[in-house]
Amino acid sequence: MTDVLTLDPRRPDPAGIAGAADILRTGGLVVFPTETVYGLGAHALDPVAVERIFSAKGRPADDPLIVHVHDVSEVERLTTGVPRDVAALAARFWPGPLTLVLRRSSAVPSVVTAGLDTVAIRVPAHPIAHALIAAAAVPVAAPSANLFSRPSPTRAEHVLQDLDGRVDLIIDGGPTEVGVESTVLDLTDAVPTILRPGAVTLEMIRGILPDARMRHAAERRSVQDPAAHGAAPMKSPGLLAKHYSPRAPLTLYEGSNSEMTARISTDAAQALARGQRVGLLLATEDPIALASSDSLRIERVGSERDPATVAANLYNALRALDAEGVDLILARSFDDTSGLGVAIGDRLRRAAGQVIRLR
Ligand code: TXA
Ligand code: MG
Repeated sequence: MTDVLTLDPRRPDPAGIAGAADILRTGGLVVFPTETVYGLGAHALDPVAVERIFSAKGRPADDPLIVHVHDVSEVERLTTGVPRDVAALAARFWPGPLTLVLRRSSAVPSVVTAGLDTVAIRVPAHPIAHALIAAAAVPVAAPSANLFSRPSPTRAEHVLQDLDGRVDLIIDGGPTEVGVESTVLDLTDAVPTILRPGAVTLEMIRGILPDARMRHAAERRSVQDPAAHGAAPMKSPGLLAKHYSPRAPLTLYEGSNSEMTARISTDAAQALARGQRVGLLLATEDPIALASSDSLRIERVGSERDPATVAANLYNALRALDAEGVDLILARSFDDTSGLGVAIGDRLRRAAGQVIRLR
């Protein structure tokens, strides 16, 4: 059993923070809330501590970690040849849900970056994360605090489901605000490129870097693509196509609202008739023509006009459906053409084993 320390997310108790910071400084593993998802932290400059992150998660060693710091002034010793753009991006978006990929300095152990010559850095905004990293007074390597290939945790109970007994301390700061992981922006390419969409959107980044672009889906490589193995090293190995998966196979529907809800109703009715347990992931306003049944579980993640709420509830809904032991999940899609919708669409497609396009 791992100790759970509950802290007020707005005014965390300094004694609690100091104890957790000691664990980090001396090579232990501490799970803490950030504004995006919970992170599994270790002293980033201690290779043995960082190795423990990979074993606790069951994470492949070729998937690099994000280094969390409490202030932009920390970036210099972790990187070389910092582009001028960093100051403007940091002034606008840090602390916050933006991760920058920069050239790494020799101060960063190669286990952190999976051998890459770049390092991902972010300054989280959550008061607990911020206070903890400042008190530890060391950079903190932290992936999302889930077992490899499970949805990222947005509540301490999700962390307990995955990592109880595998870490030294879990700080419970309540549900996280954003709900999807930070935007990862690569500044080491000729053109600034978003490797993973998040709450800092392409439109927002273009306000500072007008030529920024989104990495195309075709540039992402699938784990299931055998041709991918043995090819050139991946730009971001962790950004595999299938990554954020619930246990039950998820089918994603794309089309108009009426097309999606009609087809989901039909497919759900057929699966129920076959004796399967069915989970539906829907918007608040979706009409569903199905009699309630013990075999049917519906999670409504928010209004389709409210992507912030949908993002905040998404991973909790996937975990709730899994906890119900459903055999399959049928999920509607959301407008993914702009803003936070891009990140929601990205995560849903990664979770999906199958996409049904209705138009
Ligand atoms: O919101 C977040 O970013 C959360 C919280 C805890 O900060 N962290 C998180 O970490 O999502 P993780 O490890 O689950 O995802 C980090 C992503 C991975 O897809 C990884 O491949 C990518 O960032 N990444 C890390 N270092 C990189 C690098 N040097 N170059 C390119 N991509 C990198
Ligand atoms: Mg992760």
